[in-house]
Amino acid sequence: MTDPAPDPMPLVVLISGSGSNLQALIDAQQAGALPVDIRAVISNRADAFGLTRAAAAGIPTRALDHRAFPERDRFDAALAALVETFSPGLMVLAGFMRILTPAFVQRYAGRLLNIHPSLLPRYRGLHTHARVLAAGDREHGATVHFVTAELDGGPAVLQARVPVLADDDADRLAARVLTQEHLIYPLAVRWFAEGRLRLGPDGTPRLDGQPLRAPVQLAWDATDPPLADGHPRG
Ligand code: GAR
Repeated sequence: MTDPAPDPMPLVVLISGSGSNLQALIDAQQAGALPVDIRAVISNRADAFGLTRAAAAGIPTRALDHRAFPERDRFDAALAALVETFSPGLMVLAGFMRILTPAFVQRYAGRLLNIHPSLLPRYRGLHTHARVLAAGDREHGATVHFVTAELDGGPAVLQARVPVLADDDADRLAARVLTQEHLIYPLAVRWFAEGRLRLGPDGTPRLDGQPLRAPVQLAWDATDPPLADGHPRG
């Protein structure tokens, strides 16, 4: 007899906007490729389209407006209290555009993932696509990383690289990167949900027990997405 499938990993997703990365997670979960239970989607903006996506998928939604809180740590305390009502095993930041306080990050250390639209450690912060173009870089990409108190500075797990093309503007480049985000985020979350990915006590991510001194790379190929079993080619 084979072992029964383990329980799906309870997830809370934090968003601020369109929620296309959230949609990629929902799609992967619904396709049976992501063993998670998305318990809630929380946005700091009540008008975030991602909340509509979540509701359409039957996922509970909450809006917690940061402008209602005089201080950042008060917002984060309320956010943590709200998150706790859903008992997540993993928190996923998917276009959540608020800086989290060290106390919040510490509370979820090792259980908090983010996706950032650059090849970290390059281009932390905002407007990454325009900055890549201004610098004349030939390649760009996205990174999934564990969150630490340092903004966009936590240890990287998985990256996808894309070329910067001669006629790119920031929107075209962003779209190319976003397509890759939709591949790497479900994959990294899947690794975590399956117990393959953890943050080690020394702050180094471990995949299948092996320390990741550098992030796993997903090579860009517009015609050849990752294998259906979720393993990158290479
Ligand atoms: C994504 O490109 C994500 O990497 C970025 O915001 C976008 C959200 O898109 N996140 C950050 O810049 C965080 N620093 P989405 O709402 O369609 O998923």
